[in-house]
Amino acid sequence: MVIKPVCKGLLTFIPGAARILPKGRTGGTNSASYCLEVWLKHLALLRSGGMRAMPRTLAELGPGDSIGVGLAALLSGVDRYYALDVVRFSDTGSNLAIFDELAASSKARDASLSDERISRIRSAIASPGSERGGVTIKYMAPWFDVRAIEPESVDAIVSHAVLEHVVDLESTYRVLALWLKPGGMMSHQIDFTSHGTAEKWNGYRAYPEFLWKAIVGRRPYLINRQPCSAHLDLLERNGFEIVATKRVDRTDGIARSRLSRRWKNISDDDLACSDLTVQARKR
Ligand SMILES: C[S@@+](CC[C@H](N)C(=O)[O-])C[C@H]1O[C@@H](n2cnc3c(N)ncnc32)[C@H](O)[C@@H]1O
Repeated sequence: MVIKPVCKGLLTFIPGAARILPKGRTGGTNSASYCLEVWLKHLALLRSGGMRAMPRTLAELGPGDSIGVGLAALLSGVDRYYALDVVRFSDTGSNLAIFDELAASSKARDASLSDERISRIRSAIASPGSERGGVTIKYMAPWFDVRAIEPESVDAIVSHAVLEHVVDLESTYRVLALWLKPGGMMSHQIDFTSHGTAEKWNGYRAYPEFLWKAIVGRRPYLINRQPCSAHLDLLERNGFEIVATKRVDRTDGIARSRLSRRWKNISDDDLACSDLTVQARKR
């Protein structure tokens, strides 16, 4: 039913309504085991895509409820981690709590992980922005200043369940390309499902534009509805070589006859793609 998402969107136009609505949380990275799983997944994909060494400098787009994915990366040997979000969902206290869990499980798996390294990362969390014994964490939210990171200074960039939310995809891919070193790699997981905006997983492609505007309301972002091919095109246009893709296609979406005018020419491939994981190398 479209009534619920429209009501939610319209509520955002009422001054003060944000205070009575449930506080936004992203889910996922509020769990240490989830953060570790996401990091290890992207690390494995980057390695199988040809990344030879552990990245020294890692950037993550959209860390969400905690910067735990980056903290897991620091425990694996990354030295500089940049977390780039639009909303500051996490704070030092919650990040330290996630870190302590991550450190305990990393230590259990890898006895060579030193207490000194753990305490350096801990103090970098407590003093974001400054270097602590070779470890640096920068948490930028909102991050939109391109000068936030030196051009060609980043070895790898990851994001998980983020690029489907980014409002200005064109400039985001351009900036990621600018920050990455030549030969640097990215790994992104993109979820094209409705995120509560429709009953069917791709039901948002049935809505006329005026209805979609009402659903988005005044939120800084919801989902950008850009299909799989738009991401692959942007990667190519920004100088990336696509080294691997894994798509999940579904047949239980809306019928082509229900597509709104905006989406009526969408390809069959894009209409079916509900999830994409992609690794790309900057040429
Ligand atoms: C669904 S959450 C995913 C959070 C986390 N990556 C995870 O796996 O749980 C989407 C995240 O993307 C962030 N986001 C949305 N637009 C963004 C943008 N333009 N740049 C960076 N992050 C963005 C949101 O603020 C939020 O933290």
